Amino acid sequence: MSHPKTAALIVAAGRGHRAGGGLPKQYRDLDGEPVLSRTLRAFHQHPRIDMIRVVIHPDDQELFDQVNQEFAASCCYGGDTRSQSVHNGLRALRSEKPDHVLVHDAARPFVPDDLIDRLCQALDQGEAAVPGLPITDAVFSRGGDQIAAGIDRDTLVRVQTPQAFHFEKLMSAFDASKAGIAYPDEASLARSGGIPVQIVDGDAANIKLTFAEDFQMPVFHRQMITVSGTGYDVHRLGPGDGIWLCGVKIPCPFDLIGHSDADVGLHALVDALLGAIGAGDIGQHFPPSDPQWKGAASSAFVDHAVSLARKAGSVPVHADITLVCEKPKIGPHRDAMKARVADLLGLCQTSVNIKATTTEGLGFAGRGEGIAAHAIVTVKRHE
Ligand code: CTP
Ligand code: MG
Repeated sequence: MSHPKTAALIVAAGRGHRAGGGLPKQYRDLDGEPVLSRTLRAFHQHPRIDMIRVVIHPDDQELFDQVNQEFAASCCYGGDTRSQSVHNGLRALRSEKPDHVLVHDAARPFVPDDLIDRLCQALDQGEAAVPGLPITDAVFSRGGDQIAAGIDRDTLVRVQTPQAFHFEKLMSAFDASKAGIAYPDEASLARSGGIPVQIVDGDAANIKLTFAEDFQMPVFHRQMITVSGTGYDVHRLGPGDGIWLCGVKIPCPFDLIGHSDADVGLHALVDALLGAIGAGDIGQHFPPSDPQWKGAASSAFVDHAVSLARKAGSVPVHADITLVCEKPKIGPHRDAMKARVADLLGLCQTSVNIKATTTEGLGFAGRGEGIAAHAIVTVKRHE
């Protein structure tokens, strides 16, 4: 289903003074991974996000390039205040013509998938939406070191990022705002520009790393672990006018026989991903006896396995597929297969490998009776 073109704008140009000396907080290590790379991954792997723009400080270009190897996101430079950084980012995004934009602090690396979903859904109805949380402590105004009037906390809401907007609305609000005025966040600016801002449920896990002690919270010190799963599949060859392999249609005088499109490469890939997340095998999820999978595109099986992985908190980071066949020649199609598999898994092409081998004429593959595929998929998750 098509959805509005949605950009994530990640502001990462701050200096992190309150978090103390050393590296700016967004580049600091949290459980073996820089804060910014966790933030970028949350958006990179989300199906509703079409593009990512990161606003960085010019002094951090090398640090950013290192983190960004995995994501290949575009960047631009920020300004002295957060609102200048957001404004610069919006201007840089303008040529991409996004319909919607989610502005997010790099310093919030734990933004959950379902929060992004809620914000995107809210933009289907309204022009702006922010995540809000109730206040659970008692709240007072203060007079010096004494408490003054009590405040009804039910009238208050704590607002997080991402803050979500129809792109042109937010752009116009910024362009119309007085130069030099720094807004605490885009919700304040939008509201002062008359844009209604809806509150969706925020998430307590989506904290902003602000002070040095925020990096010491034990909950963040679970190790990231790397897990792999393998997959293997075989399909028989018969007469026809082309086969699907690794999500690419290859015209040739034969066909692969199977209940679905018989894409043996994607079937091995799905089994490998299911293996990495401990979710059984492809036959359990898509039984050949079920008529709804007759002739199905195997890319739908990959989409399903990826969404199961996301629900289990696992993120694919690498895939390697070996195709075993005498024919057709894989070389001319390798780049297209790589691009398709990378797209399906939400990976850069550098994190996908496609190999092919013959069996020197031996066995069923050697006699051209069928094609086999092996796959290994690596995922990252918390222990
Ligand atoms: N930010 C930015 N440009 C600025 C200031 C802030 O892009 N001129 C970004 C930060 O990198 C951060 C987010 O806005 O991801 C929220 O800001 P904050 O938590 O205040 O971060 P810092 O400004 O870096 O920290 P501090 O205020 O302690 O210096
Ligand atoms: Mg700041």
